[in-house]
Formats: sequence, structure tokens, C-alpha cells
Amino acid sequence: EHEQDHPHQVPAAFKIQLPTPSTPIHSATVSAPTNIACIKYWGKASSHYNTPINDSLSLTLDQADLRAVTTASCCKCFTEDKLWLNGKEVQMNASTLKRFRACVDGIRALASDKVDDITHQIVVTRSEWETMPVHIASYNNFPTAAGLASSAAGYAALVASLVALYDAREEYPGQFSAIARQGSGSACRSLYGGFVAWRAGGEREDWSDSIAEPVVDEMHWEEIRAVILVVSNKEKETSSTKGMETSVTTSRLLEYRAKHVVPQRMKEIEKAIQEKDFESFGKVTMMDSNQFHATCLDTYPPIFYMNDVSKSVVTMVHVYNEWAEEIRAAYTFDAGPNAVLYTLEKYQVELLALVLRYYPEVGEGYVNNSELRKEAMEFALEAG
Ligand code: DP6
Repeated sequence: EHEQDHPHQVPAAFKIQLPTPSTPIHSATVSAPTNIACIKYWGKASSHYNTPINDSLSLTLDQADLRAVTTASCCKCFTEDKLWLNGKEVQMNASTLKRFRACVDGIRALASDKVDDITHQIVVTRSEWETMPVHIASYNNFPTAAGLASSAAGYAALVASLVALYDAREEYPGQFSAIARQGSGSACRSLYGGFVAWRAGGEREDWSDSIAEPVVDEMHWEEIRAVILVVSNKEKETSSTKGMETSVTTSRLLEYRAKHVVPQRMKEIEKAIQEKDFESFGKVTMMDSNQFHATCLDTYPPIFYMNDVSKSVVTMVHVYNEWAEEIRAAYTFDAGPNAVLYTLEKYQVELLALVLRYYPEVGEGYVNNSELRKEAMEFALEAG
């Protein structure tokens, strides 16, 4: 009340500088999750369109702490497009710039007019968006998990923030995912929740059929859980892009895998998911991770992503499953040593107890659900 009577008494330092109405800043903020592949994407059919040599399938994680949060803004008052990652401005190299441009130009081409909520007047016409440079600021809150598909969440959040900013509309289902794919292949799968397939495509010349699609309803298999073991938070030594390039040119095993192994596995895993058959799901997932790392070894010179700790996790999971006389956990490894273990809700305490017993540092670092950790510790103590 007092302030309203004497507006001039508000000290200048407390006044927020808002853009003048003639140069409004339009912005939108979204978050996008990461995803972990059960059937791996490894190898590009077209590096220009960033399309894969085989289909892949992943689960989009819903953990709040494995997300990228991105704000996209645009304004006539900006002088050029800019990008910040975790607060630092990025000087884009040719490869990042190409990915960035594909996403910005791709989504902007699908923009709608912006209509004011109150006056219902068009405040920005579709074509006017092009006259405004964009500023993108992205944070990812992966505390210790470098190399955990951060590009997937990052490019998915970039695309989703642009969709929100421009109120973009798809011309065909999956078009946004085809755009995210050009940022990073695995990112196309993060635009949907639950189990998502990325169909390699290639029937159409412009690869517009290389898109992601959910294979079941997001809530279909709610009992599934992912446990992430951060074996190392160092930046991976060979980037996926570079690694798969070498694999495609040197590994005959990769060629065989793409043609003769993955198509069958996609059918198997989709059926397992539909039927909530963890036994089959787990087996295919582990075998596909193993084959992906076998193609890395078959690459010349070879690429090693898994380290000794990763390999001991593999052994632990197999010993656990043998003891249980059924598959209760399945491991998978991406282009780095960190393990992701899939399990079912009813086994998660048991599995976490095992993890905390054998990998105390890893468990401490990641099991951030204190309730769950306590339960697992008690279980471990009881079971000895
Ligand atoms: C091993 O999607 O990071 O995680 O398309 O070159 O950006 P680019 O590669 P990227 O590769 C991910 C590879 C993988 C397997 C997977 O996620 O399917």
C-alpha cells in the first residue's frame, strides 16, 4: 500500500529492468530426461542426416536428477545466436554449430504466429521469428554422472524449448524427433517417455522416416527400475560420434550385427516389453550391451569403454541371477564404464543391498534416495 502511494520511494537498486515493449524478450523453459538404450545405436548410415545403421530401443528415465533444463529466448534486441552450457558461453566448433543450426532452423521452420493471451492480437508473425536471434541457456544436473547420455537430454531439451518458444507444430508424427536426431542420435528417443524405439528409416531420400516412437504407453510397465552405478565421472576418452565412425569403417562384426542381429532382437525385446517378460527383456538387454562392446573391441584400433569395475559388475549381476534362478537384474553399458542396471520394483532393495555391499563408494555416490538406501542397508545386514 505504502509503495503504491509513493512509487518514487522504491530504491533504484530494487527496480527490475524490464525490456521496453518495443523489444520484448520471448522465452520458454523446459526440462528433458536422459534415456538408456537396451538395443544400442552404434554406427551412422548418413553422417549428414545423422541417421543410424540399425534400429535402437531405450527407456526414458524419469529421475529428476538426470535431466537437462533449457531456456530458449529470442528478441530483436539480440545481435546473434548464442549458447551457454552450465553458465558458460560455448564457442561452437563446426560440428556443434551444425547440430545447433539443424535444431534451431528445423523447429523455427515449424513455428506458429504468437497470439497475445489477453488481446488475441498476433504479436509475432510466423515469419518474424526469423528476424530474432536466439539465446539458449542449458544446465544439466547430472551430479556425478559424466558420460551418462548427457547429449541425449541436452538436445532433447534444446528441441523441446524451441518447440515451446515458437509454439511449433509437427507436419507429421515424429518430425520433432527427426530434428532432435540431427542434434544427437540418442536425443530423438528422449522426446518420449517410457520405452521408445528409434526406427532407422532410409526409405525416404531425406531420411524423414528416421524417427523415434513410443513402443508402449508410458505407464505400461511401471514396475521397471533403473539403478545407475557411477563407476567414473571422468569425461569419456572416445566420443560416440568419433568411435562409431571408426567402427563403421573397420568392424565387420558391426556390419553383421546391424544386418543380421538387431532386427530379430528388436522384435524380441518389443514382445518382452509388451508382455512384461523381464526374463527375456533382461537377457536381450545384456546380450546387446555385450555385443556393442564386442564391436568396440572389433574396431581397429580397438575402443575400450568398460573397465575392470564395469566387468566385475557384469559378473556380480550374473552371479545374482544364477543364485535367484531367474533374471532379476540386467546390466547395460554405453560409451563409458558406468553401469545401468535394470530391475523390477520388487527386487530393487535386494539389488541395492548387493550394490552397496560390493561397491560402497559407487552406491554412496548414487543411491540418493535415503529411504531406499536405509532399507537396502538393513536388508544387507540381515542377509549378512
Ligand atoms: C552408446 O547419440 O551420443 O549411447 O548421434 O553422434 O551424437 P551422436 O551419438 P550419440 O550415441 C549414443 C551411443 C550409445 C548407444 C545409444 O544410446 O543407443
